[in-house]
Amino acid sequence: MSSDRDKRLARVLPVPRWPSSEEARALRWFAPGSLGPLATHGRTWVPAMVPWRASPDGFVTEKVVDWYRRFAEGRPAVLVIEATGIRDVPSGPLLRIGHERFVPGLRDLARAVREASDGQTRLLIQLIDFLAIRRRPTAEKFFGRYLEIDRALRSRLAAHLGDDDLGRAPEGVLRERLLGLAEADYELVLSARDLESYRRGYRERVTDVHLPAIRDLPEVLPPLFAAAAERAQAAGFDGVELHYAHAYTMASFLSARNDRGDGYGGPRGNRVRLPLEVFTEVRRAVGPDFVVGCRYLGDEVIEGGSRLDDALYFAERFAAAGMDFLSVSKGGKFEDAKAPKVGQSIYPYTGPSGQECMPTVRIDARGPFGRNVPLARAVRRAVRGAGFETPVVTAGGVCSPYQAEEILAAGDVDFVAAGRQTLADPDWFLKIRRGRGDEVRRCLYTNYCEALDQAHKEVTCQRWDHGFPAHEGEVPRSADGKRRLVAPPWPGHSS
Ligand SMILES: Cc1cc2nc3c(=O)[nH]c(=O)nc-3n(C[C@H](O)[C@H](O)[C@H](O)COP(=O)(O)O)c2cc1C
Ligand code: SF4
Repeated sequence: MSSDRDKRLARVLPVPRWPSSEEARALRWFAPGSLGPLATHGRTWVPAMVPWRASPDGFVTEKVVDWYRRFAEGRPAVLVIEATGIRDVPSGPLLRIGHERFVPGLRDLARAVREASDGQTRLLIQLIDFLAIRRRPTAEKFFGRYLEIDRALRSRLAAHLGDDDLGRAPEGVLRERLLGLAEADYELVLSARDLESYRRGYRERVTDVHLPAIRDLPEVLPPLFAAAAERAQAAGFDGVELHYAHAYTMASFLSARNDRGDGYGGPRGNRVRLPLEVFTEVRRAVGPDFVVGCRYLGDEVIEGGSRLDDALYFAERFAAAGMDFLSVSKGGKFEDAKAPKVGQSIYPYTGPSGQECMPTVRIDARGPFGRNVPLARAVRRAVRGAGFETPVVTAGGVCSPYQAEEILAAGDVDFVAAGRQTLADPDWFLKIRRGRGDEVRRCLYTNYCEALDQAHKEVTCQRWDHGFPAHEGEVPRSADGKRRLVAPPWPGHSS
């Protein structure tokens, strides 16, 4: 049974009409499709969603396998495994593919998905690179240790305090004087970058070319992505989704804010260069029979960021290069994210761009339902207009089969993804196909799951824990013992 709050919120969801099994058979969502070399049984798609279940050193765990097996039981046409790190560096419990030692676990995962879906679900893995971010420091740590004291800072502080001696004073004295300043004074004394590191935590950018590791990204990343894709192929995946979206390295190269002066920033043609070089190297490594596409942004939704016209240009270049699909997302950036609390890290889904990425029912009067379709539609038109057949994928607030039908019938996209709705009810595709849509456990689009993601806690759905008897037997629970780790079973599954 749902809570009153759930019921109240559910009222704002579009009331779906559920098809009979015969009607469902006629829906385009369940009609065969293709992704480059690969046939798909439908046009349903589960986009990448990080569940925070990998081991602390990035291996596939039993819980990871259980999570994806549960999705596979609903038999989506395409399932994308969460953002998976391509480097062999510690990155907490984020799934990793940066070394051969990760392959056996990933192979088990791929096998579990095949078995649970009876070989029907096509399996992609999202490959990600990201740059360093640090937690927001205390003032003591920042001014006592992290802040670099240079000449410019010395003279700004000396001028601000009217104390010429600070120009020559030992560093310790400056640090003390800085720590003693009022909060508002930091805006006058610190550089914009230092102020940001103090208030939001230090964050590397692709434009920090004074750092050798950042300068060398164009040399380093193509082979790293290519090796990761080869491992995915060896592990039995059907393809890879290059993560060129949201707040991460490749999206930052595409961003209009990227002004690197080395031929990889500035004009669009330069900004798309590394993403294309990565794709070329990946394709060379895996050959033509392995699906390689990307997820990227139709709009960054930040000041000075890339907009739809940039996205249309990139789409044509990606399609011309031979990508097998383009999955269009929106926003999800660090630049407009809320400042984290001291001791916490900035999370790119807290500002206006983040709300566009995972829109809730509270976003505005329009709501989250199919919100990102116009971007994907424009991308598909641009791609078709340029003479390419590259499939385009949309995601964002898809929660009913006739909504997907309308999008597909209009020729807006080729695949319609549903993330949170599939999280709420992994069986929902199957329920609809069997004419049992009225049994679908519907997503409320209030982002309880996303708050868990933000806290780096095991992601679960609020709806899994309502209406199921406590005595139902031993079910795997979250670390706090309070939440189910996988969606409740559907008794009708094997009928
Ligand atoms: C818990 C959670 C984790 C997510 N993790 C990823 C991710 O790893 N990679 C990605 O590209 N998008 C990620 N997303 C975004 C989703 O793929 C999707 O684009 C978004 O939720 C909007 O679609 P929906 O309304 O169907 O949920 C995540 C979303 C959620 C709710
Ligand atoms: S927790 Fe997430 S998937 Fe579950 S109902 Fe809320 S928004 Fe939907």
